[in-house]
Amino acid sequence: MFAQSPLSCVFSFQLPYLGFVSSNPLLAFPSMVGDLERTESELLGSVQSPNEFLTEVASHLIIAGGKRIRPGFTIAAATAAMAGPEPEAVSTDVILGGVSVELVHLGSLYHDDVMDDALMRRTVESVNARWGNLKAILAGDFLLARASEIAASLGTEVAGLLANTIAKLCEGQIRELQDVYNIDRTEKNYYTSIEGKTAVLLATAARVGGIVAELPADQIDTLTTFGHRYGMAFQVVDDILDVVATSEQLGKPAGNDLVEGIYTLPVLHTLEGPRGAELREILGEPLSDEQRDAARNIVRAGDGLAHALEVAKQFSEEAVEALAPLQGTPAHVTLGAASDHLIKRVGEAAATSTT
Ligand code: IPE
Ligand code: IPE
Ligand code: MG
Ligand code: MG
Repeated sequence: MFAQSPLSCVFSFQLPYLGFVSSNPLLAFPSMVGDLERTESELLGSVQSPNEFLTEVASHLIIAGGKRIRPGFTIAAATAAMAGPEPEAVSTDVILGGVSVELVHLGSLYHDDVMDDALMRRTVESVNARWGNLKAILAGDFLLARASEIAASLGTEVAGLLANTIAKLCEGQIRELQDVYNIDRTEKNYYTSIEGKTAVLLATAARVGGIVAELPADQIDTLTTFGHRYGMAFQVVDDILDVVATSEQLGKPAGNDLVEGIYTLPVLHTLEGPRGAELREILGEPLSDEQRDAARNIVRAGDGLAHALEVAKQFSEEAVEALAPLQGTPAHVTLGAASDHLIKRVGEAAATSTT
């Protein structure tokens, strides 16, 4: 029943997976299409190695697709420097800034899929499923190394920022691991974890655009706050989608958070509600497919999704409010539209799954 829901239009997850790009609000301006094409070519170039096998493993998920939100943010942020409604193409350094951030994201996905034992990513076999954990870990390290090399070419500020962002990402992921299968995980720990593992990188994506475009310090801070708030909303949305979407729609295994013992906001809120005791009976250990579906159905029937959606909306509104000083610039239009789009689409999804 659920598989036929209008969720197929969430983020436009049509197959092929890159179908998303057609409705990506980051593409509000014609110049962005060219800028993202330049990003793709630099991304592929950045993972070339004399070891052809390493190049193949490191290119696997670049070729598979992905939404490219992070380099999109770097490019959009840099357009804050441009007057007039239509931005021009950004500089090569801005493109490279976006590439370094996307490479950090990619490296973190290689490692995250090992941690989550996930077999699918961006609609294709995950790297660990195809080549095993050891090679996935090493290729992830290689991606982080290439990210650092590119960041260093952009100056010490960008290099330091990226290194600090990787450290925060590890702190967020470790915080999550410390609570695995913990049915008493606190919402505070959840927020601390998602800030580190997701929001900080989105903040950095926007900040790098501002730094490389040599914007004034207050504008760089504005972009950073926007990225951070958007990043919080983004992870809450991802956590909602894990409960309500299908693997085909996501291009990665749906329901995997419950199976792996990662109890996210909609689940934590449900655990405190009227069917909390019932949910507690199922959770706390690895789940069979039947137990996963039973747990998902309990969460879908309660008010945990609505609560998480409200939280995501609030973060997204704060993100848009933070952009106010950039009014009149192309960055304001593009980044604001990205934030609105995130909530509108997931709102439809959550509403559909609970009816
Ligand atoms: C996935 O990020 C990891 C999270 C922070 C939830 P994206 O949803 O941006 O993944 P891709 O890049 O489009 O594959
Ligand atoms: C994002 O969290 C973790 C990263 C920092 C890569 P998730 O574990 O929810 O990401 P997905 O759902 O696997 O993409
Ligand atoms: Mg994961
Ligand atoms: Mg997830």
